[in-house]
Amino acid sequence: MNDKTTIARAPGHCGELVLRRDGAHHEIIANGMFLMDTRAGESERLLITAAADRMPGPHLLIGGLGVGFSLRAALTHPRVHEVTVVEREEQVIAWNRTHLGNQDLLDDPRTHCVPADLTTWLPQSPQTFDALCLDIDNGPDWTLGEDNASLYSAEGVRMLRSRLTPGGVLAVWSAAASTAFVARLRTAFTAVEVLEVPVARGEPDVVFLAS
Ligand SMILES: C[S@@+](CC[C@H](N)C(=O)[O-])C[C@H]1O[C@@H](n2cnc3c(N)ncnc32)[C@H](O)[C@@H]1O
Repeated sequence: MNDKTTIARAPGHCGELVLRRDGAHHEIIANGMFLMDTRAGESERLLITAAADRMPGPHLLIGGLGVGFSLRAALTHPRVHEVTVVEREEQVIAWNRTHLGNQDLLDDPRTHCVPADLTTWLPQSPQTFDALCLDIDNGPDWTLGEDNASLYSAEGVRMLRSRLTPGGVLAVWSAAASTAFVARLRTAFTAVEVLEVPVARGEPDVVFLAS
């Protein structure tokens, strides 16, 4: 029996966005594909805490609000004093304020929520960040589209490095390992680490760290 309930639907960047409830949990579907749910969150939190532990200053950027695990982890980390969140789906931001119970995160004076596409917003940003924490795709080799894929190319990695303060940290979430992406990171950064988080079924989640 499927007791999932559709709560809301809205047009999104790449097809229809659907918010569903499944018992105590919520899930977001984009164009018929699973985007994010509220069930786990361990690797989404590690993306933040690993970067924040290593970053040289207090300003961290999150690419992709999702259901807010990463933003909550940032706001509870003692070294984070300012968080810029870039999210291209305005409806995802709205659902965080309502159904997902994250109004407090978005109203926090340390949070700046930017409704924009990271791939165009970040290269034009006059700001640099002490950490860039990206979770906008299933990983460097499995992206939501060509625009997002450009971020993980050699040119994209150089652009990301240019948006970091000296000693700043790039953190990238992935549902799978990627030796090609690690090799690209090594050409642009001096230190590269790969952290793994076991999941109930399948490959571990991965957090790539570069500084
Ligand atoms: C897997 S979810 C992020 C999960 C998040 N780490 C959390 O803790 O819930 C990916 C998010 O990135 C957003 N996104 C995808 N591509 C984007 C882009 N190019 N610019 C900004 N946001 C993007 C999606 O709309 C979605 O909200």
